[in-house]
Amino acid sequence: MTQHRLRFGVLGVGRIGKIHAGNLSSQIPGAELAALSDVFPEDLAAVAAQLGVSKTVSDYRDLLQDRDLDAVVICTPTHTHYQIILDAAAAGKHIFCEKPIDLSIGKIQTINEEVRKRGVQLMVGFNRRFDPNFEKVREIVAAGKIGEPHVLRITSRDPSPPPENYIRSSGGIFLDMTIHDFDMARYLVGSEVTEVYAKAAVLVDSVFEKAGDWDTAVVTLTFENGALGSIDNSRKAIYGYDQRVEVFGSEGMVTVKNNAPNTHVYSDRTGIHSALPLNFFMERYKESYLKEMRTFVDAVERKQPVPVDGNDGLMAVVIALAAAKSAREQRPVKLTEVYQRSLSPCQIA
Ligand SMILES: NC(=O)c1ccc[n+]([C@@H]2O[C@H](COP(=O)([O-])OP(=O)(O)OC[C@H]3O[C@@H](n4cnc5c(N)ncnc54)[C@H](O)[C@@H]3O)[C@@H](O)[C@H]2O)c1
Repeated sequence: MTQHRLRFGVLGVGRIGKIHAGNLSSQIPGAELAALSDVFPEDLAAVAAQLGVSKTVSDYRDLLQDRDLDAVVICTPTHTHYQIILDAAAAGKHIFCEKPIDLSIGKIQTINEEVRKRGVQLMVGFNRRFDPNFEKVREIVAAGKIGEPHVLRITSRDPSPPPENYIRSSGGIFLDMTIHDFDMARYLVGSEVTEVYAKAAVLVDSVFEKAGDWDTAVVTLTFENGALGSIDNSRKAIYGYDQRVEVFGSEGMVTVKNNAPNTHVYSDRTGIHSALPLNFFMERYKESYLKEMRTFVDAVERKQPVPVDGNDGLMAVVIALAAAKSAREQRPVKLTEVYQRSLSPCQIA
């Protein structure tokens, strides 16, 4: 007997949509890539031809009418997520949505309430939780092997800034870029953030200033369990995608270095040389995108809760909004200033 495969539609076939569509089309036995949607016909046709998908629509609502479609993967620009999620939930589709769910706490709360009422799953694309290196860090911290966590350090620098139109619709550095690090902070330490102190600057490109944004940031976090954290971001590291993590505690420390395409070390009279880090998220986090989608498919199939849910999507946005307020007002901001709900207990497994 052949197993029923869940039928997926991918909405938006840009940078991240292509990755998820590619994984769903051939890498996940329980899933079938049944349809694609994008407002740009040329890109849509090219991706459909490459992946052998015959159903393509420019208006995603046409795709939601397909009764045989089980789930959608939302990879459209952030400002479109809210309406698409509400429409997908109303159509009874399970939803995987790229980060951030939305930029407004009120809208995310509406989304979370709606998906609960409609009985559909919502998983948020915090893929770094599925990176094998960072999973190991979480495992070590959760097992108590470093004792009580005292200090978290995350370095997260992109190799080059995104295009100007992306910057303008992204929500800004904290909601677009640091949001991954805020989620990692909660996940790795296993405690909610209670206060944020952020400094931000434009040091890379004046296009960020024109968009009312920053390209460089340093954020200090305070966690509910007393631990402290620091995150540093840049939109441009000339040596490539810089993704390092350290958790230090009473009984030890765990660190993750950058991944490189190879580990050779060449020494000569001028110095000791090795490969640059993998260049960007498509390469560095390739495995994590596949694993997060496998996890989503599995959760939908087994009707089990997803590991990164709407509350995780909400909390990362709350931290990001507090960070933006902190950077603007040049003072520490407690999360309760932007979000009133009690923050404990932390739900992270
Ligand atoms: N998890 C990650 O590592 C990661 C990486 C990149 C982007 N993202 C997130 O994914 C989302 C998309 O980012 P991107 O970099 O792929 O952007 P992108 O601009 O490369 O792609 C977005 C695509 O959506 C299409 N689109 C726009 N409106 C649409 C609509 N109403 N219906 C269907 N298609 C529509 C656009 O034509 C475009 O092809 C953003 O929310 C971003 O924050 C996540």
